Parts: sequence; C-alpha cells; structure tokens
Amino acid sequence: MARIDIRDVTKFYGKTQVVHGVDFTINDGEFVVILGPSGCGKSTLLRMIAGLEEISGGTISIAGDVVNDKEPRERGCAMVFQNYALYPHMSVAENIGYGLKVAGVAKVARMARVQAVARTVGLDEFLDRKPGQLSGGQRQRVAMARAMIKEPKVFLFDEPLSNLDAKLRVQMRIEIRKLHQRLKATSVFVTHDQVEAMTLADRLVVMNKGVIEQIGAPKEVYDRPASVFVAAFIGAPGLNLMPATISSDGHSLMLADGQRLIVETARYPALRPGPVTLGLRAEALSIGPEAQAGRHSALKATFDFAEELGVGQHIHAEVAGSPVVIHVEDRRPYRSGDRLTIEVSAHDLQLFDSETGLRLAQIDAPCPARTRDRQRALDALS
Ligand SMILES: Nc1ncnc2c1ncn2[C@@H]1O[C@H](COP(=O)(O)OP(=O)(O)O)[C@@H](O)[C@H]1O
Ligand SMILES: [Mg+2]
Repeated sequence: MARIDIRDVTKFYGKTQVVHGVDFTINDGEFVVILGPSGCGKSTLLRMIAGLEEISGGTISIAGDVVNDKEPRERGCAMVFQNYALYPHMSVAENIGYGLKVAGVAKVARMARVQAVARTVGLDEFLDRKPGQLSGGQRQRVAMARAMIKEPKVFLFDEPLSNLDAKLRVQMRIEIRKLHQRLKATSVFVTHDQVEAMTLADRLVVMNKGVIEQIGAPKEVYDRPASVFVAAFIGAPGLNLMPATISSDGHSLMLADGQRLIVETARYPALRPGPVTLGLRAEALSIGPEAQAGRHSALKATFDFAEELGVGQHIHAEVAGSPVVIHVEDRRPYRSGDRLTIEVSAHDLQLFDSETGLRLAQIDAPCPARTRDRQRALDALS
C-alpha cells in the first residue's frame, strides 16, 4: 500500500518561499496530476516527495512512514523526467537493466526482468538497439521501463512528455494511462498542459504560486472551477470572464454596457448586489437567431474572427468590451464587425467574487428546474 500524505508542506529557497502549506493525500493506486503554470512549484513539490529536495516544513509520508529524513533510494519512488537522458553507447536492454546491475543483481535474473518490463512497454523487439536508433516515443518508453524495473511503490513523473511532438504526446499519454491501469502503482504526474492533465488524472491538483487552488476530479474542476485562476486555466479555451454587477433585487446582472442577464437567484443563497466576475464556458454558449436579441437570455456581441477546429469553430467576439469565445459546431460566413446574438442559459452562469476571485457559493439545481426558474426570473424582469 503506497498512500502519500502531504501535510502542511512548505519550501523556502533561502528567504524566498515557493511552496506554501500544501496539504493533500494521494490514495494508494491513484493517478494524481499536479497542474499549474511554469514556476508555480510543481517540480519542487515532486522532488520533495522523491527526496531530491529538502522539505522546509511539514511532513511527507509514504505508506504511513514519514520520509522527511529518508534518502531518495529508501522511499520506493521511481522518477521519470522530461530529459530522460539515456546512455547512448548502451543498448536498450542495458539501459533498462542498468539500475539492477549497479544494485548487484546477477545477469541472468537481470535479463529476465529486463525482458518482462520491455514486454510491458512494448519494447521487446528493440532490446539490442541503441537509443539513437529509436523514435522519441520509444526512447520515452525506455525511460519508463528503467523506472518500472525498480518495481516502485510510487511513480513520479515530471513533465515527461513535454519534449515530444504533439502526436506522440497523445500516444504516450494513452500508453501511460494503460500502463497505470495494468500496474496500479500510485502515480504523481506533473504538467503545465491542462489537456494532458484532464485526460490522465483520476484527480487534479491545480497549483498557482506555491498554493493549491483546487483539488478534484477533472470533470468537477472543469464544471465548477473554484476560482477565476482555475476557470481561466482549465479548458480550451478557458472560461470567458467579464466584470458584471448584480442588481439590487439580485435577480439579474448587468454587464459594463448595460446589457442584462437573468440570475437564478435561488441557487446563490449568499448573493449580494454589487460587482462580481461572470464566467461563461464557450461550450455553453450558442449563437442564436436575430429575433432573440433584446431578451434577457441573450447577449449582443460583435464578431471578431473565427478559429477553425475541424470539428467546428471557435467564434471570437466582443461582448460589453470583453473578448468572448463561443464554440459552434457548424460554420457560418461571418465578417468582422457583424452583430451576433449569443444565447445564454441562466443555468450556465458562473459567478466569482470580484475581489478574491473565488467562486460564489452555489446550490446546484438539477437541470429540470431550469426552465421553471428561468420563466420565473423572466416574469420577474418583465
Ligand atoms: N534551486 C533553486 N533555488 C532557488 N529557487 C528555485 C530553485 N528551484 C526552483 N526555484 C524557484 O522555485 C519556484 C518553483 O519552481 P519549480 O518547482 O521548478 O516550478 P514548476 O516546476 O512549477 O515550473 C520558481 O520560482 C523557481 O524559480
Ligand atoms: Mg517544473
């Protein structure tokens, strides 16, 4: 059993604090992805788990043992890095088996384990090749095999796919996921790539400036980002954000240019009149017929440009002085400056505190209530 408990962990480099009281648990066999922008402290945290970096405060336990003062090799972790430097003069088999050789494992036993691991990552046909005769993806798999042969309790990955081209990255992502399904080793994977994070993780830990912004299943983080930081970081594109003001009766909000939208007041028990940040997912918006314009479930927008996605388009437009992206599945020949009507369901409004950036407490009404709430809100406005 290899649960990892991270308790109030801090890290200082000299006087600079780069990790601020990080606290979470990685369950046995779980695949957790630590996601955040460059410099937010992901590698530092991972290296503290591995024992490659000292912990300034707090404790890290692996399988119930506090490992703060343990040597890396005593922790039962194997790490896969972005720069998986292989020994160029050694064959694939020698590269994979090197750690065992150093540990004094006899040749026959070593080769048996090399072959078993190579089979797991699909390298058994390449054991005699040199790294220079492999593709990037195959080299990455050698690095994985080299980590796996130690039969670690815990796998730590630090942006292992960042150096690969886009197609290979997707392939390797799938292979890592499949491998995890087979081995079920506790895994911590660090990346700044939110698509990679969403697709790999059982659970996501979103970090910003050495602080955890949110922990949750990918879908949960996508649907209910805890802060504007997470909202903007997750999703392609991130959440559309714009300033708004809640009306004095709390039933609607007003954008910078005076346009209004209905608010499902019943879902926001603590909503106060005044400034908020409004968030709208590109996928939750649609471009409606002209006739809808002027309704409170619709916003007037100005078309800017369209981004082709193959499976649809991202329409970039301006609403009340803010840029907004709308995901559409068809293609329409808009021209720059065209007036658009964006349809918005009151259920899809996401509200954040305009000062703290935190999501406003919200009761999640089930969708069937949506029509009735909307009608009631419409009645209230008319
Ligand atoms: N050895 C070090 N000495 C001083 N500062 C460091 C050192 N390593 C990392 N940092 C700083 O700590 C912060 C977090 O770095 P890092 O964990 O590498 O971020 P990430 O992996 O999220 O990109 C950064 O501001 C970085 O400059
Ligand atoms: Mg890093």
